[in-house]
Amino acid sequence: MTPAVLELPKAAPFLIEQDYSAYGTEQHSVWAELVRRRMPQLERHAAQEYLDGFESLCLPYDRVPNLTAVSSKLHRRTGWNAAPVSGFMPAPAFFEMLAARRFPTTTWLRSRDSLEYTPEPDIFHDVFGHVPMHAHPVFADFLARYGQVCARLEDEAILERIGRVFWYTVEFGLIRQNGEVKVYGSGLISSNGECANVLRRGCAVRSFDLDEVLRTPVKVDEMHHLLFAIDSFDQIYEAMHTLEARINRGSLLDD
Ligand SMILES: [Fe+2]
Repeated sequence: MTPAVLELPKAAPFLIEQDYSAYGTEQHSVWAELVRRRMPQLERHAAQEYLDGFESLCLPYDRVPNLTAVSSKLHRRTGWNAAPVSGFMPAPAFFEMLAARRFPTTTWLRSRDSLEYTPEPDIFHDVFGHVPMHAHPVFADFLARYGQVCARLEDEAILERIGRVFWYTVEFGLIRQNGEVKVYGSGLISSNGECANVLRRGCAVRSFDLDEVLRTPVKVDEMHHLLFAIDSFDQIYEAMHTLEARINRGSLLDD
């Protein structure tokens, strides 16, 4: 058996190689256009940790990223990799990868006529949106812990509740920095529309509270009306410990 099958038995069928030479001039140009569109807003409104991560990983502005090159820089910092996968993965395989600090990363890129939105995540969402935060040590530990906790759960109702923590942090998280609300969630980082909705105060922003997050259902088909701002990444790392303790005592909500 290959090492991947031994180490990641559930995820192994979804692991692929990134065929970097298959990207053509048009795809590199689409990547460059996507970065050019997002960066001005992010330089002003993204969390400093996101911008630092982008720079420290030397993510390219002008071409589709090579995942081997990204992973080699990332791994030296936090032990994480951006691991190419074939597409949508079942939850147990996804959690197994997070627990092993391998972020499932798609390799396809949206076309020029859908720059603003793709129903499924592409390499722009996964690398531009997610990967810079994985260079931050506390966020990196939080995300691995999330995977470890979820990987040993089977109860769908509990997983759906805990999935709300992922949604309102990893995907749509906000943080207060220097008196302003900044974005760090990948769905806000990679989408002009979602980010603009927050900036024009189209959604309420409340302080991150684990119980409120666990009680707030995820709606994927509309702009958010409510998001949560942390004060530091320690807060979500500690929230994972609280969640774990609650799971161990058999009561997820604090009531
Ligand atoms: Fe995502």
